[in-house]
Amino acid sequence: MSSKSLVLVGVAVLSVHTITAHAVADEVWLSQLDLSKTQQGWGEPHADQSLMEGPISIAGKTFERGVATHAKSVLWLELDGKVSEFLASVGIDDTAAGGNASVEFMVLGDGKSLWRSGVMHHGEEAKPVRVDVQGVRSLLLLVMSAGDGINFDHADWAEARFVCGGAAPTCVASPREDRVILTPKPGPAPRINGPGVYGCRPGNPFLYRVPTTGERPILFSCDGLPASLSIDTETGIITGTVPERGTYEAMLRANNQHGATSRTFRIVSGDTLALTPPMGWNHWYAHYNRITDAMMREAADIMVSSGMADVGYQFVSIDDCWMNAEKYDDPLRVGPPRDANGNILPNQHFPDMKGLTDYIHAKGLKAGIYISPGPRTCAGFTGSYGHEAQDAGQFADWGFDLLKYDLCSYGEIIGSSATVEALKKPYILMGDLLKQQPRDIQMNLCEYGLGDVWEWGKEVGGQSWRTSGDLGFELNRIFDVALANAKHGEYSGPGSWNDPDYIQIGYIGDARTIGMPTPCSLTPNEQYAFMSLWCLMASPLFYSGDMSRLDDFTINVLCNPEVIAIDQDPLGKCARVIMLGEETFAMVKDLEDGSTAVGLFNPGEFAVPITLTWDDAGLSGPHKVRDLWRQSDMGEFSGKFEATVGRHGVVMVRVSRPDNNS
Ligand code: GLA
Repeated sequence: MSSKSLVLVGVAVLSVHTITAHAVADEVWLSQLDLSKTQQGWGEPHADQSLMEGPISIAGKTFERGVATHAKSVLWLELDGKVSEFLASVGIDDTAAGGNASVEFMVLGDGKSLWRSGVMHHGEEAKPVRVDVQGVRSLLLLVMSAGDGINFDHADWAEARFVCGGAAPTCVASPREDRVILTPKPGPAPRINGPGVYGCRPGNPFLYRVPTTGERPILFSCDGLPASLSIDTETGIITGTVPERGTYEAMLRANNQHGATSRTFRIVSGDTLALTPPMGWNHWYAHYNRITDAMMREAADIMVSSGMADVGYQFVSIDDCWMNAEKYDDPLRVGPPRDANGNILPNQHFPDMKGLTDYIHAKGLKAGIYISPGPRTCAGFTGSYGHEAQDAGQFADWGFDLLKYDLCSYGEIIGSSATVEALKKPYILMGDLLKQQPRDIQMNLCEYGLGDVWEWGKEVGGQSWRTSGDLGFELNRIFDVALANAKHGEYSGPGSWNDPDYIQIGYIGDARTIGMPTPCSLTPNEQYAFMSLWCLMASPLFYSGDMSRLDDFTINVLCNPEVIAIDQDPLGKCARVIMLGEETFAMVKDLEDGSTAVGLFNPGEFAVPITLTWDDAGLSGPHKVRDLWRQSDMGEFSGKFEATVGRHGVVMVRVSRPDNNS
C-alpha cells in the first residue's frame, strides 16, 4: 500500500466512530479524495455535506459521509486494478424538495456499465451499491438527469467508499483529447463564401463585404448590381444606397492568379433584415467591464486579418459597460448618464463613437451596440428608460447597425410577475424606433426567453432573440441548451432567429467572476459539437472570445465555410431532432438545394457508433455523404449512414442526391 493511501486510511479510521457504515482499514472514502475534477450541472461537489451544506439525507435517513453532487455529474477515477469493491448508498438529497428531481446513478469500469440505479426520485429510499471493480483501471461515476432536465437534481453518493488492496483511487480529469485540426486551410484560389441572399431596406446606406477566401490580391466584380450600388474591385466591399423595393439577382465574381470563381447574390430590398442569421463578434465573454474603443478596433482588425470576415463574420459588437455608471471601480467609467439635452454619454473609454463605427465600416464590417430598456443595464450602467427615441436616434447617428436590447432593471417598471404584454412593450417601442432610422439596424432581444419570446420577437421588430439565460454560466451544458433551443425551431426563418447565445471557445473570461480570458474549458470535441449545433439550428453566430488570442485550432472551428454554409442556408430552417437516445442524438436540417445537413451527437462519456437511417431522416434511395468538418466526400450510402462519434463529439455531414452538384 502506498504512503498516500496509508494517510487516507488513517483519516478513515479516525472517523469510524462517527459513521454509519464502518470503514475498515483498507477502505477509502470517496469524500476524502480530491473532488475538484468533478464536472457537474450546478454548484460544486461537497464532501460529507449536502449541496446545501447540511447533513447528507436521503428519504429521512442521514449519512455522516458521502459526496453530494448535481446532475449531470461526471467523476473519473484512476484505480490500480487492486481496488476490489465500490460501495455506496445513493439517492436524491432531501433538500431537493419542491421540484421534479429525478436522476440515474451509474458506475462504469473501463468503459463498461457495471451498475445503474434506474431512475430515482426525490423521497425514494437510498439504494445500496456494491460493485466488483477488481481489475478495473478507469472508473466513472455518473449521475444523469433522467431525461427531464437538471432542476433540483441534488444527487448523493452517500457512504461511497472503496475497498483497496493497493493504492487509493485518484480522481482524474476527463480523458485528454488532442486539439486536432480537422479542416483543411483555404486554398489560394478565390472562394466566395457567406450567404447567397441579403435583406435591406430601400433608401438606406448599403454595406456588404463579399466574404472571400483566397490569396490577395483578388479582383472583385459584380454583374447585375443595381445602379445605386458599386463594388470596390480591390476589397470586394459593396457600398451605396439600397435600391427601391424588389429582388435583384447579381453575380459576384472574384479572381486571382490561382483561379476565378463566381456566385449568385440575391439582394432583397424590402422590410426584412437578416435573411440569414447574423454573424460577428461580441465583446462580452472576453472583456466584460474592461472593454475600450481600442479593443473594439483591434477586434475589427483581427476579424479581417484572421480570415473570419472571409467566411462571413461581419458585426463587431460592443456589449455592456460603454456608458457611464454612477459608481464603479474604474473611475473612467463613472460620470453623468446624459448631457443637458438628455443625450446618452459614453464613458471615457469610448471617446468617439462615430469614429469607432467609421473605423469598423471602412473595413466593410458592421457595428453593434447594447443597452437595456430599464433605467440601468445589467452591469449597472445607464439604460434607455424614458429616453428611447433619443437613444435610437443617437445609435443611428453614431452609425450602429445592430442593437442588443437587454431587459435588466426593466423589472422595476413592470414588476417581477410581468405579463407577456408588459414584456413586449419595450421591444415594440424600440423596434418601431429603429425602423424609423435612416439606416438598417437589427434588434436582438436579450430577455432570456421570457414570455416565450420566440412567438413574438419578430412581430415586435426583432431579428433574433435569446432563448435562454447566459450561456457563460452553463458552458458545461451546451448539448442541453441546444436541445432546449431546438424546441423553438418552428420560429426560425429568414429575418427570425432563435439565439442560444454566443460561441465561447478559444480564450474566454469566466462569466461568474468576469475574469480575464483563459483557454476555455471545453474539450476539442465539445468545441466542434458547439459550432455544429449552432449551425444546424441556424443560430446567430457571434464569437465572444478574445480576438487577440485566436489560434489555429480556434480559427479552424470558427471558420469552416462548409459548416457555416449550413447556418447561412437561405431556407433558414432550424434542424429537427430526429433521434434522441439515452446518450446520443441526431439533428437534420433541410437545405435550399434539396440536400440535408446532419449532425450525429454523442454527449456520452465514450465513443459510440451512431446510425442515421434514411427513414428517420425522411430520405430514400442512394445519397452521397460529405464530411463537413474534414471537407471530404465519404461515398454513396443507401438506407443508412453510420459513424463512430467521439466522447462529447459530433460527426457533421451533408447528405445529397448523387446528381446534386451544388
Ligand atoms: C446580460 C446578457 C449578457 C450580457 C450582460 C451584460 O447578462 O444576457 O449577454 O449582455 O447582460 O451586462
